[in-house]
Amino acid sequence: MRKIAVGLLGLGNVGSGVVKLLADNADSIRERLGGASVEIRRILVRETEKQRLVDVDRKLITKSASSILDDPEISIVVELIGGEEKARQLVLDAIAHGKHVVTANKALLAAHGDELFAAAEKKNVDLYYEASVGGGVPIIRALREGLASDRITEVIGIVNGTSNFLLTKMTDEPQPFEQILAEAQRLGYAEADSSLDVDGWDAAHKLCVLVPLCFGISIHTKDVLVEGLRGIEPIDFRYAERFGFVIKPLVIAKDHGDSLEARVHPTLIPRRFMLASVNDVYNAVYVSSHALGQSMYYGRGAGMMPTAVAVVSDLLEVSRNLLSSSVGGPPTGRVRTPKRIRAAGELESRYYLRINVLDQPGVLAQLAGLLGEQGISISEMVQEGQRTDGKSACVVMTTHIAREENMQAALMRINLLPAVVAPTRLLRIFDRPGENATRGGKTA
Ligand code: HSE
Repeated sequence: MRKIAVGLLGLGNVGSGVVKLLADNADSIRERLGGASVEIRRILVRETEKQRLVDVDRKLITKSASSILDDPEISIVVELIGGEEKARQLVLDAIAHGKHVVTANKALLAAHGDELFAAAEKKNVDLYYEASVGGGVPIIRALREGLASDRITEVIGIVNGTSNFLLTKMTDEPQPFEQILAEAQRLGYAEADSSLDVDGWDAAHKLCVLVPLCFGISIHTKDVLVEGLRGIEPIDFRYAERFGFVIKPLVIAKDHGDSLEARVHPTLIPRRFMLASVNDVYNAVYVSSHALGQSMYYGRGAGMMPTAVAVVSDLLEVSRNLLSSSVGGPPTGRVRTPKRIRAAGELESRYYLRINVLDQPGVLAQLAGLLGEQGISISEMVQEGQRTDGKSACVVMTTHIAREENMQAALMRINLLPAVVAPTRLLRIFDRPGENATRGGKTA
């Protein structure tokens, strides 16, 4: 019986899930591989004595990367240590040693994807990365295989489980932000550095992984408009609801023909839009393509076992490739179509503004004037007095579509007005007049 030997780099949350899933499903995995088995031969860790989430044979544990890289029997290396530079070096070394690689590391792929895929292609080895986006949702396979025959025009996703969990909890009942984040950490959703989740960078990394598959162009986080969740307050959820929206942490990439837009920010979306009902740690990616139309891919986007499912499924696919001697094909689905990436200032949206002002004559006229000077038209507006002091008021407005550079110019001037008593909260609205996104979507 053939054994496929695997070297695991990292035994944290996801690594432990991989060990558990391989053990739990050993029989069905063997069946799916026509009798061959997948066996973890060695596990690289930083601290050998640390308490683990799963029981592993201590003989497998090592602090020496070369005991994996130099073992000729190990054919697949699974990188789950996270981070960029050390992971990059280990993956390049594994490829140089002719090993196939499975990784869940979105930060690594966002920063060094081109280099790693080129190295893998040169050495004729597989590099699989399903777990890097969407946790257990097979979005990479859907894009690489299911939609390979179609032309994608737009991708809108909720791809960070922690921020969706945070926003869902904040919508349901006001709770301190730090308390919800601590719960996300306890549940194994958040990154070791949770600011990657909260400030939008994890989602941006994932968008950088999706864009080459969808649009045949490599992008980097510097090309993406990235905003996180800080500064959103319970009152914003109430106003969003009043205007018919919910707030979701979106990634958006859209092909404009000559150029591409890529952005990550908390967004007001209409309650009727399918992504509005994607809650808690769930992720979903809503894809528009020429022939299929709209399709949506949904499931648990973070956590030990959902992410392990994606990693182990990649392990199976590489194992199948090994067994059928078809490794090193073009696994990434990345094609090359050079395209300009739109600068942040060129992007267009509707906007939500929450402005705290002194309740005095002429203030509304000043606000409307500054927006008007930038060609920005107000769509809806409410004003409420602050019950606490009776002197200030909260003005909340939504605008029609405007250009980001005009909105930023207006915002700067609004915040300089003597009557404006606190920094204005700006959120973007994703809303297309006439488009009913609940129709025609296929949920996969
Ligand atoms: N911290 C990530 C998230 C883990 O919350 O989505 C999965 O990539």
